[in-house]
Amino acid sequence: MRSKTDKSVEPQRDGHAPLKKLAVIGAGKLGEGLLSGVLGSQLLPVGRVTATVAHQPRADYLAEKYGIRAGTHNREAVSGADVVLVCLKPQQVKGFLQEVKKDLRHDALLISAAASVTTEFIERELPFPVRSVRAMPNTPCLIRHGMIALARGKNATEADLKIANRVFSSMGRTVTVDEKHMDAITGLSASGPAYVYTIIESLAEAGVKLGLPRELSTELSAQTLLGASALVLQSGEHPAKLKDMVTTPAGCTIDGLLELEEGGLRVTLIKAVVRAAERARQLVDNQNK
Ligand SMILES: NC(=O)c1ccc[n+]([C@@H]2O[C@H](COP(=O)([O-])OP(=O)(O)OC[C@H]3O[C@@H](n4cnc5c(N)ncnc54)[C@H](OP(=O)(O)O)[C@@H]3O)[C@@H](O)[C@H]2O)c1
Repeated sequence: MRSKTDKSVEPQRDGHAPLKKLAVIGAGKLGEGLLSGVLGSQLLPVGRVTATVAHQPRADYLAEKYGIRAGTHNREAVSGADVVLVCLKPQQVKGFLQEVKKDLRHDALLISAAASVTTEFIERELPFPVRSVRAMPNTPCLIRHGMIALARGKNATEADLKIANRVFSSMGRTVTVDEKHMDAITGLSASGPAYVYTIIESLAEAGVKLGLPRELSTELSAQTLLGASALVLQSGEHPAKLKDMVTTPAGCTIDGLLELEEGGLRVTLIKAVVRAAERARQLVDNQNK
């Protein structure tokens, strides 16, 4: 019997075909976040989701927690799946493709979230013209506040991008980009949470230095970043204009900003993103050798 909340089998209001079977390969931190997002958004019912991992106890945990089929057999998981979501470590992707190339449906959409694995690489490894989409998420996806960039491979269609969008929009904000931008995006929004945590930690340390309790200081710091970020996104204003709104002439903030300029915060952050993007580029080059 069809459940009222089972949107995947209801007539699709947005005109998309319902997903029949989703296989999440490598359901670790990211993969579990995706599972949770997809199931929570009722994109498709639990009976149509299958997941794999390397170790049986982890599979048992996923099956128990989400009520899905979970195991360690990739070939079984991909067979019949119309969407295959690859959340493996980058170095495991090649072995996985070799393992399942005879079992993958030729019309399946393969979405890979593995860092530095290009759609060209995936296309080269499979003996048929696979439709693939590359995704670059970040860890806030785990609480559905992620930033996810999507890029399509040469055989993927607009409809495929829409499917990827439906899957990932359950985890946060999505953007569609040309794949050539993926290294920059890796350096900015995928590595970015680590930079932001360092900033939150530093601001909190400052509060502690000034006598605030650590827990309070961390809350003040994290909520300040959250609120300031939300204001950028919601107002659409240039960050410099929002900064000017805080900076009263001869007030306190301008003194703080002078310290930031002297400490080279801007240049340091720019260099951090550029270095991480260069590293992402190197990983792609190594993979293609
Ligand atoms: N975490 C992030 O913020 C983030 C952001 C962007 C992109 N990514 C990408 O997402 C991918 C996964 O990252 P992660 O942090 O989620 O890693 P992770 O937690 O280590 O997850 C990897 C999972 O793969 C499973 N696995 C290993 N070999 C397998 C095989 N042959 N077949 C099926 N499953 C297998 C592991 O199973 P066991 O648990 O049983 O060992 C584990 O659950 C990486 O490529 C990373 O670049 C992650």
